[in-house]
Amino acid sequence: MPQSAIRDERLIVALDVPTAAAALELADRLAPHVDFFKVGLQLFLEAGFAVCDALCARGHKVMLDLKFHDIPQTVSLAVSQLAGHDIALATVHGYPQVVEAAAKAKGNTKILAVTVLTSLGSDELQQTGFAGSLADLVRLRAVTSLAAGADGVVCSPLETALLRKNLGAKPVIATPGIRPLDSVRDDQTRTATPKAAVAAGADHIIVGRPITKAPDPAAAARDILLEIG
Ligand code: C5P
Repeated sequence: MPQSAIRDERLIVALDVPTAAAALELADRLAPHVDFFKVGLQLFLEAGFAVCDALCARGHKVMLDLKFHDIPQTVSLAVSQLAGHDIALATVHGYPQVVEAAAKAKGNTKILAVTVLTSLGSDELQQTGFAGSLADLVRLRAVTSLAAGADGVVCSPLETALLRKNLGAKPVIATPGIRPLDSVRDDQTRTATPKAAVAAGADHIIVGRPITKAPDPAAAARDILLEIG
């Protein structure tokens, strides 16, 4: 297969850059290999829906990762704002009230519930007042979020196999905290390689810095696609 033909929607690249111009330049460099891009807080606060629309106009899919967590009315009204924009996936925190409010207003967007942030380890979790195990909390948040209307969950690759077993084949599982073997962890704690995450049952791997900070981002994306096979 020629290198330019390797493209795969399982890879979502996090466009964690400060401006629309930087995001679109990166998306254009990655376009031979990447179809799916994540817009997060930094980029959205600067560039808003315009950058999402520009990515869609280039034929890409967009995951809007604003991780809403507020009272139900506020979450419903915020999610309603996605109407008219072609947002494939949007995130909220995995609390049943929040998920239910988002699901009511979601239109064609799939709602993913964030279980426990991949930057948190057991110690940080205890500090926030949770006494139980991290895996139990992830499972509880996933099960209750799906019951409340989520289309899928965001979890670390370390809990993916457990969730896939518990949730079955249908819910979307997207995993950040992806680190190829030669990458640094940065602020991520619960990490695994692209291959391990996909083998554990992830539908999507979300990768930021290992691609965006690489000397050759397109080559880094291609290597990840080759790794997941
Ligand atoms: O650079 P890195 O690969 O760590 O980027 C991971 C991306 O996934 C970031 O944009 C981060 O906001 C997002 N994310 C995460 N953990 C979650 C949900 C989203 O790291 N639980």
